Amino acid sequence: MQTMNSPSPQSPLTSLGDGRLVASAALNNEEPIAAVLERVLNPGHHVLELASGTGQHIAAFAKRFPEVTWTPSDRDDVRLTSIEAWRRHASQPGLQSALRLDVSATWDVAPASRDVVLAINLIHLIPMNAVVHLFAECRRVLRFGGCILLYAPMRDGTEFFSEGNVDFDATLSRANPDLGLRDIGTLVDIAARLGFDGHERIQMPANNHMLKLRLPSPTTPHDIARL
Ligand SMILES: C[S@@+](CC[C@H](N)C(=O)[O-])C[C@H]1O[C@@H](n2cnc3c(N)ncnc32)[C@H](O)[C@@H]1O
Repeated sequence: MQTMNSPSPQSPLTSLGDGRLVASAALNNEEPIAAVLERVLNPGHHVLELASGTGQHIAAFAKRFPEVTWTPSDRDDVRLTSIEAWRRHASQPGLQSALRLDVSATWDVAPASRDVVLAINLIHLIPMNAVVHLFAECRRVLRFGGCILLYAPMRDGTEFFSEGNVDFDATLSRANPDLGLRDIGTLVDIAARLGFDGHERIQMPANNHMLKLRLPSPTTPHDIARL
């Protein structure tokens, strides 16, 4: 095993020597995130993961939920190579090749083609205008009844849930004032303006949160006329 510098300063990566990289944070949160997925996913669902990183999460989830189709993505070449290595290693028919996808640009993903868009530890690392764009793209690619699942350290207004989160927020905003832990209420409001509702906020280990935002099915002729 060899430790290498990650292109993103916050996550040192370990190489397994066959192209696969490992991030220790991803080992720690895999199980609690899988427990949420267990409640959300149904056979036949199609999940798009944004910012898949090493690919270890999606490879594990594809093994655990083999009746679901999984599309990983990232914008970074080092990560895309690792995702491909994890995909080969997992050898799961439901795990597709990774898309090169920058969440702040237009996504090469068909409209209304996914049931879940999953983003683990991303939204505090992209500017707020990219978060808004991400929600708009989710609105476009999700089927009605689908949802966005955002896992990250978040805040509730000015409440940060831990000293570590306060420090992390300060480090991020020193590097770029547009980055930092996101306020759950603000995320819910932005999503609501795009038609998402029925949000669920789940407390996760190590002072993280999972925010689920649902795209409801149109129920009235008025709703349908607005599509
Ligand atoms: C902290 S890592 C999280 C990776 C993975 N989700 C995990 O939890 O292990 C952040 C990831 O976001 C990706 N990323 C950052 N900005 C991005 C963007 N604008 N579009 C797509 N991916 C991005 C990085 O390449 C990196 O893989």
